[in-house]
Amino acid sequence: MKFSWKNCTKPILALAPMAGYTDSAYRQLIKSIEPRAICFTEFTSVDGIVYSSKKTLKQLDFNPDEERPIVAQIFGKKLDHFTEAAKKIEEMGADAIDLNMGCPAKKVVSSDHGSSLLKNPCHAADIVAATVRGTSLPVSVKTRLGINKVDIEWFIAFCKKLEEAGAELITIHGRTAKQMYLGKSDWEPIYEVKRNLKIPVIGNGDVLSAADAVGKLKNLDGVMVGRATMSNPWVMAEIAAAFYGGEYTAPKTFAEKLPYLLKHCELSVQTKGENRGIVEMRKNFVQAIRGFDGASEYRARVVHISTLEEAKRILNEILEHVGQSA
Ligand SMILES: Cc1cc2nc3c(=O)[nH]c(=O)nc-3n(C[C@H](O)[C@H](O)[C@H](O)COP(=O)(O)O)c2cc1C
Repeated sequence: MKFSWKNCTKPILALAPMAGYTDSAYRQLIKSIEPRAICFTEFTSVDGIVYSSKKTLKQLDFNPDEERPIVAQIFGKKLDHFTEAAKKIEEMGADAIDLNMGCPAKKVVSSDHGSSLLKNPCHAADIVAATVRGTSLPVSVKTRLGINKVDIEWFIAFCKKLEEAGAELITIHGRTAKQMYLGKSDWEPIYEVKRNLKIPVIGNGDVLSAADAVGKLKNLDGVMVGRATMSNPWVMAEIAAAFYGGEYTAPKTFAEKLPYLLKHCELSVQTKGENRGIVEMRKNFVQAIRGFDGASEYRARVVHISTLEEAKRILNEILEHVGQSA
Protein backbone atom coordinates (compact mmCIF):
# COMPACT_ATOMS: atom_id res chain seq x y z
CA MET A 1 0.00 0.00 0.00
CA LYS A 2 1.15 3.52 -0.79
CA PHE A 3 2.79 5.27 2.17
CA SER A 4 1.07 8.37 3.49
CA TRP A 5 1.98 10.67 6.39
CA LYS A 6 -1.69 11.19 7.14
CA ASN A 7 -2.49 7.50 7.53
CA CYS A 8 0.73 6.13 9.02
CA THR A 9 0.81 4.96 12.65
CA LYS A 10 0.89 7.79 15.20
CA PRO A 11 2.80 8.92 17.08
CA ILE A 12 5.40 8.79 14.34
CA LEU A 13 8.86 7.75 15.45
CA ALA A 14 11.43 8.97 12.93
CA LEU A 15 15.17 8.53 12.62
CA ALA A 16 16.66 11.92 11.74
CA PRO A 17 18.62 12.35 8.53
CA MET A 18 22.28 12.76 9.55
CA ALA A 19 24.85 13.28 6.80
CA GLY A 20 27.85 11.02 7.30
CA TYR A 21 25.89 8.70 9.64
CA THR A 22 22.44 7.55 8.53
CA ASP A 23 23.50 5.55 5.50
CA SER A 24 21.79 2.29 4.60
CA ALA A 25 23.85 0.27 7.12
CA TYR A 26 22.94 2.64 9.97
CA ARG A 27 19.26 2.63 8.98
CA GLN A 28 19.16 -1.17 8.68
CA LEU A 29 20.67 -1.45 12.15
CA ILE A 30 17.98 0.89 13.51
CA LYS A 31 15.23 -1.02 11.69
CA SER A 32 16.52 -4.33 13.10
CA ILE A 33 16.19 -2.83 16.58
CA GLU A 34 12.90 -1.02 15.95
CA PRO A 35 11.03 -1.91 12.74
CA ARG A 36 8.41 0.81 13.32
CA ALA A 37 10.98 3.61 13.04
CA ILE A 38 10.65 5.65 9.85
CA CYS A 39 14.10 6.39 8.44
CA PHE A 40 15.27 9.37 6.39
CA THR A 41 18.31 9.18 4.12
CA GLU A 42 21.21 11.60 4.47
CA PHE A 43 20.49 14.85 2.60
CA THR A 44 21.23 14.39 -1.07
CA SER A 45 21.85 16.99 -3.77
CA VAL A 46 19.13 17.35 -6.41
CA ASP A 47 21.82 18.55 -8.82
CA GLY A 48 23.77 15.32 -8.28
CA ILE A 49 20.59 13.28 -8.85
CA VAL A 50 19.73 15.14 -12.03
CA TYR A 51 23.28 14.78 -13.37
CA SER A 52 23.26 11.07 -12.35
CA SER A 53 26.38 11.46 -10.24
CA LYS A 54 27.30 7.91 -9.18
CA LYS A 55 28.29 9.03 -5.68
CA THR A 56 25.04 10.94 -5.19
CA LEU A 57 22.83 8.12 -6.43
CA LYS A 58 24.71 5.63 -4.23
CA GLN A 59 23.72 7.76 -1.24
CA LEU A 60 20.07 7.02 -2.01
CA ASP A 61 20.59 3.24 -2.10
CA PHE A 62 18.43 1.38 0.37
CA ASN A 63 17.49 -2.20 1.13
CA PRO A 64 13.85 -2.52 0.03
CA ASP A 65 13.31 -5.60 2.22
CA GLU A 66 14.51 -3.95 5.43
CA GLU A 67 14.00 -0.21 5.18
CA ARG A 68 10.34 0.42 4.38
CA PRO A 69 9.06 3.08 4.48
CA ILE A 70 12.13 5.00 3.33
CA VAL A 71 12.11 8.79 3.05
CA ALA A 72 14.66 10.29 0.64
CA GLN A 73 15.84 13.70 1.80
CA ILE A 74 17.00 16.14 -0.86
CA PHE A 75 18.39 19.66 -0.99
CA GLY A 76 19.05 22.19 -3.70
CA LYS A 77 17.89 25.43 -5.24
CA LYS A 78 16.81 25.00 -8.87
CA LEU A 79 13.10 24.29 -9.24
CA ASP A 80 13.34 22.11 -12.35
CA HIS A 81 15.99 20.00 -10.64
CA PHE A 82 13.58 19.27 -7.78
CA THR A 83 10.91 18.16 -10.27
CA GLU A 84 13.30 15.89 -12.14
CA ALA A 85 14.95 14.53 -8.99
CA ALA A 86 11.52 13.73 -7.53
CA LYS A 87 10.66 11.72 -10.64
CA LYS A 88 13.94 9.76 -10.40
CA ILE A 89 13.51 9.10 -6.69
CA GLU A 90 10.05 7.67 -7.29
CA GLU A 91 11.51 5.43 -10.02
CA MET A 92 14.17 4.28 -7.53
CA GLY A 93 11.38 3.01 -5.29
CA ALA A 94 11.48 5.36 -2.27
CA ASP A 95 8.25 5.86 -0.31
CA ALA A 96 8.40 9.61 0.34
CA ILE A 97 10.51 12.69 -0.33
CA ASP A 98 11.66 15.20 2.29
CA LEU A 99 13.02 18.64 1.47
CA ASN A 100 15.89 19.98 3.55
CA MET A 101 15.20 23.56 4.60
CA GLY A 102 17.11 23.42 7.86
CA CYS A 103 20.78 22.65 7.27
CA PRO A 104 22.82 25.51 8.83
CA ALA A 105 26.24 24.41 7.50
CA LYS A 106 28.16 27.32 5.93
CA LYS A 107 28.78 25.51 2.65
CA VAL A 108 25.08 24.73 2.26
CA VAL A 109 23.75 28.15 3.36
CA SER A 110 26.22 30.11 1.23
CA SER A 111 24.90 28.40 -1.90
CA ASP A 112 21.30 29.29 -0.90
CA HIS A 113 20.35 25.72 0.06
CA GLY A 114 19.13 24.30 3.37
CA SER A 115 18.19 26.82 6.07
CA SER A 116 18.84 29.80 3.79
CA LEU A 117 15.44 28.97 2.25
CA LEU A 118 13.94 30.40 5.45
CA LYS A 119 15.00 33.79 4.06
CA ASN A 120 12.91 33.29 0.96
CA PRO A 121 9.50 31.77 1.79
CA CYS A 122 8.21 32.18 -1.78
CA HIS A 123 11.13 30.22 -3.21
CA ALA A 124 10.74 27.60 -0.45
CA ALA A 125 7.06 27.16 -1.37
CA ASP A 126 7.96 27.02 -5.08
CA ILE A 127 10.40 24.21 -4.29
CA VAL A 128 7.64 22.24 -2.56
CA ALA A 129 5.31 22.77 -5.53
CA ALA A 130 8.04 21.87 -8.05
CA THR A 131 8.78 18.63 -6.17
CA VAL A 132 5.09 17.73 -5.93
CA ARG A 133 4.81 18.24 -9.71
CA GLY A 134 7.44 15.58 -10.33
CA THR A 135 6.04 12.77 -8.17
CA SER A 136 3.02 11.02 -6.73
CA LEU A 137 4.99 10.37 -3.50
CA PRO A 138 4.19 12.41 -0.39
CA VAL A 139 6.48 15.44 -0.07
CA SER A 140 7.48 16.81 3.34
CA VAL A 141 9.80 19.53 4.67
CA LYS A 142 12.31 19.54 7.51
CA THR A 143 13.18 22.96 8.82
CA ARG A 144 14.28 25.05 11.82
CA LEU A 145 12.54 27.81 13.81
CA GLY A 146 14.11 30.65 11.84
CA ILE A 147 17.43 32.13 10.77
CA ASN A 148 18.58 34.36 13.66
CA LYS A 149 15.60 34.58 15.97
CA VAL A 150 12.13 33.15 16.52
CA ASP A 151 9.25 35.26 15.25
CA ILE A 152 6.35 32.89 15.80
CA GLU A 153 3.81 34.75 13.62
CA TRP A 154 6.28 34.82 10.76
CA PHE A 155 7.22 31.17 11.27
CA ILE A 156 3.58 30.01 11.30
CA ALA A 157 3.02 31.91 8.04
CA PHE A 158 6.14 30.25 6.57
CA CYS A 159 4.91 26.76 7.49
CA LYS A 160 1.39 27.51 6.21
CA LYS A 161 2.88 28.56 2.87
CA LEU A 162 4.65 25.20 2.63
CA GLU A 163 1.41 23.42 3.51
CA GLU A 164 -0.50 25.34 0.83
CA ALA A 165 2.22 24.49 -1.70
CA GLY A 166 1.60 20.78 -1.08
CA ALA A 167 3.80 19.70 1.84
CA GLU A 168 2.12 16.75 3.57
CA LEU A 169 4.21 16.90 6.76
CA ILE A 170 6.62 19.28 8.42
CA THR A 171 9.40 18.32 10.81
CA ILE A 172 10.70 21.15 12.96
CA HIS A 173 14.02 21.22 14.79
CA GLY A 174 13.52 23.62 17.70
CA ARG A 175 16.59 25.75 17.05
CA THR A 176 17.34 28.62 14.71
CA ALA A 177 19.99 28.21 12.01
CA LYS A 178 22.24 30.64 13.90
CA GLN A 179 22.15 28.41 16.97
CA MET A 180 23.55 25.47 14.99
CA TYR A 181 23.48 22.88 17.81
CA LEU A 182 23.98 25.28 20.75
CA GLY A 183 21.48 25.88 23.53
CA LYS A 184 18.37 23.77 23.94
CA SER A 185 15.82 22.81 21.33
CA ASP A 186 12.71 24.89 22.05
CA TRP A 187 9.56 22.85 21.40
CA GLU A 188 7.00 25.56 22.34
CA PRO A 189 7.01 27.19 18.85
CA ILE A 190 6.60 23.69 17.35
CA TYR A 191 3.39 23.11 19.38
CA GLU A 192 2.17 26.53 18.24
CA VAL A 193 2.79 25.71 14.56
CA LYS A 194 0.91 22.43 14.96
CA ARG A 195 -2.12 24.34 16.32
CA ASN A 196 -2.18 26.32 13.08
CA LEU A 197 -1.63 23.62 10.45
CA LYS A 198 -3.81 20.83 9.08
CA ILE A 199 -0.95 18.52 8.12
CA PRO A 200 1.00 16.37 10.64
CA VAL A 201 3.95 17.96 12.44
CA ILE A 202 6.97 16.14 13.91
CA GLY A 203 9.09 17.73 16.65
CA ASN A 204 12.85 17.34 16.74
CA GLY A 205 15.77 18.25 18.94
CA ASP A 206 17.37 16.83 22.07
CA VAL A 207 15.23 13.70 22.49
CA LEU A 208 17.58 11.47 24.46
CA SER A 209 15.23 8.94 26.04
CA ALA A 210 11.72 7.46 25.99
CA ALA A 211 10.78 9.82 28.83
CA ASP A 212 11.92 12.80 26.70
CA ALA A 213 9.90 11.57 23.71
CA VAL A 214 6.73 11.05 25.74
CA GLY A 215 7.17 14.34 27.60
CA LYS A 216 7.85 16.41 24.48
CA LEU A 217 5.21 14.85 22.20
CA LYS A 218 2.18 16.83 23.52
CA ASN A 219 -0.07 17.85 20.56
CA LEU A 220 2.42 16.73 17.89
CA ASP A 221 2.15 13.80 15.49
CA GLY A 222 5.56 12.38 16.27
CA VAL A 223 9.15 12.86 17.29
CA MET A 224 12.37 12.59 15.34
CA VAL A 225 15.55 11.37 17.03
CA GLY A 226 19.06 11.94 15.75
CA ARG A 227 22.24 12.19 17.78
CA ALA A 228 21.00 10.05 20.69
CA THR A 229 20.97 7.03 18.37
CA MET A 230 24.70 7.34 17.68
CA SER A 231 25.70 5.92 21.05
CA ASN A 232 22.32 4.40 21.89
CA PRO A 233 20.44 2.99 18.87
CA TRP A 234 18.24 1.04 21.30
CA VAL A 235 16.58 4.29 22.38
CA MET A 236 14.34 3.86 19.31
CA ALA A 237 12.91 0.59 20.68
CA GLU A 238 12.50 2.16 24.14
CA ILE A 239 10.54 5.06 22.63
CA ALA A 240 8.44 2.68 20.50
CA ALA A 241 7.55 0.66 23.61
CA ALA A 242 6.48 3.87 25.36
CA PHE A 243 4.45 5.03 22.31
CA TYR A 244 2.86 1.79 21.16
CA GLY A 245 2.91 -0.43 24.27
CA GLY A 246 5.03 -3.44 25.16
CA GLU A 247 8.34 -3.57 26.91
CA TYR A 248 11.91 -3.30 25.78
CA THR A 249 15.07 -3.84 27.74
CA ALA A 250 18.09 -2.30 26.06
CA PRO A 251 21.45 -4.08 26.19
CA LYS A 252 23.59 -2.67 28.97
CA THR A 253 26.92 -4.44 28.97
CA PHE A 254 29.52 -4.29 26.22
CA ALA A 255 28.99 -8.05 25.75
CA GLU A 256 25.30 -7.45 25.07
CA LYS A 257 26.01 -4.55 22.71
CA LEU A 258 28.74 -6.33 20.74
CA PRO A 259 26.45 -8.29 18.35
CA TYR A 260 24.83 -5.00 17.25
CA LEU A 261 28.20 -3.41 16.59
CA LEU A 262 29.28 -6.43 14.57
CA LYS A 263 26.02 -6.37 12.62
CA HIS A 264 26.49 -2.65 11.87
CA CYS A 265 30.02 -3.37 10.73
CA GLU A 266 28.95 -6.20 8.46
CA LEU A 267 26.16 -4.11 6.94
CA SER A 268 28.63 -1.30 6.34
CA VAL A 269 31.00 -3.69 4.53
CA GLN A 270 28.14 -5.20 2.51
CA THR A 271 26.90 -1.81 1.34
CA LYS A 272 30.21 0.06 0.86
CA GLY A 273 32.88 -2.57 0.40
CA GLU A 274 35.43 -3.57 3.04
CA ASN A 275 37.82 -0.61 3.06
CA ARG A 276 35.31 2.22 2.87
CA GLY A 277 32.79 0.33 5.00
CA ILE A 278 35.28 -0.07 7.86
CA VAL A 279 36.79 3.40 7.55
CA GLU A 280 33.27 4.85 7.83
CA MET A 281 32.57 2.63 10.85
CA ARG A 282 35.44 4.21 12.79
CA LYS A 283 33.27 7.10 14.04
CA ASN A 284 30.54 4.67 15.10
CA PHE A 285 33.07 2.59 17.04
CA VAL A 286 34.27 5.77 18.77
CA GLN A 287 30.68 6.43 19.88
CA ALA A 288 30.22 2.85 21.07
CA ILE A 289 33.50 2.29 22.90
CA ARG A 290 32.77 4.20 26.09
CA GLY A 291 31.98 3.71 29.72
CA PHE A 292 34.69 1.31 30.87
CA ASP A 293 38.29 1.55 32.10
CA GLY A 294 40.71 1.78 29.19
CA ALA A 295 38.01 2.80 26.67
CA SER A 296 39.99 5.85 25.50
CA GLU A 297 42.96 3.65 24.51
CA TYR A 298 40.70 1.42 22.43
CA ARG A 299 39.10 4.50 20.84
CA ALA A 300 42.57 5.76 19.85
CA ARG A 301 43.29 2.40 18.20
CA VAL A 302 39.96 1.95 16.48
CA VAL A 303 40.38 5.09 14.36
CA HIS A 304 43.19 3.35 12.46
CA ILE A 305 41.47 0.10 11.47
CA SER A 306 40.60 -0.65 7.86
CA THR A 307 39.57 -4.31 7.64
CA LEU A 308 36.66 -6.32 9.01
CA GLU A 309 39.11 -8.72 10.61
CA GLU A 310 40.85 -5.89 12.47
CA ALA A 311 37.46 -4.62 13.64
CA LYS A 312 36.43 -8.04 14.92
CA ARG A 313 39.81 -8.55 16.59
CA ILE A 314 39.68 -5.28 18.50
CA LEU A 315 36.05 -5.72 19.52
CA ASN A 316 36.78 -9.21 20.85
CA GLU A 317 39.83 -7.85 22.65
CA ILE A 318 37.60 -5.29 24.35
CA LEU A 319 35.19 -8.05 25.31
CA GLU A 320 38.03 -10.00 26.92
CA HIS A 321 39.19 -6.83 28.67
CA VAL A 322 35.81 -5.85 30.13
CA GLY A 323 34.42 -9.38 30.67
CA GLN A 324 30.77 -10.36 30.32
CA SER A 325 29.42 -8.05 33.00
CA ALA A 326 30.88 -4.61 32.19
C1 LIG B 1 26.21 14.78 11.97
C2 LIG B 1 24.86 15.36 11.66
C3 LIG B 1 24.41 15.37 10.34
C4 LIG B 1 23.15 15.92 10.03
N1 LIG B 1 22.70 15.86 8.74
C5 LIG B 1 21.44 16.28 8.45
C6 LIG B 1 20.89 16.11 7.14
O1 LIG B 1 21.51 15.53 6.25
N2 LIG B 1 19.63 16.59 6.93
C7 LIG B 1 18.90 17.21 7.91
O2 LIG B 1 17.76 17.62 7.66
N3 LIG B 1 19.38 17.36 9.15
C8 LIG B 1 20.62 16.90 9.45
N4 LIG B 1 21.08 16.99 10.73
C9 LIG B 1 20.20 17.50 11.78
C10 LIG B 1 19.42 16.34 12.45
O3 LIG B 1 18.57 15.73 11.50
C11 LIG B 1 18.58 16.84 13.64
O4 LIG B 1 17.70 17.82 13.17
C12 LIG B 1 19.44 17.42 14.75
O5 LIG B 1 20.56 16.62 15.02
C13 LIG B 1 18.62 17.62 16.03
O6 LIG B 1 18.09 16.40 16.48
P1 LIG B 1 18.79 15.56 17.69
O7 LIG B 1 18.93 16.48 18.85
O8 LIG B 1 17.84 14.42 17.96
O9 LIG B 1 20.13 15.12 17.19
C14 LIG B 1 22.34 16.48 11.06
C15 LIG B 1 22.80 16.46 12.37
C16 LIG B 1 24.04 15.91 12.68
C17 LIG B 1 24.49 15.90 14.12
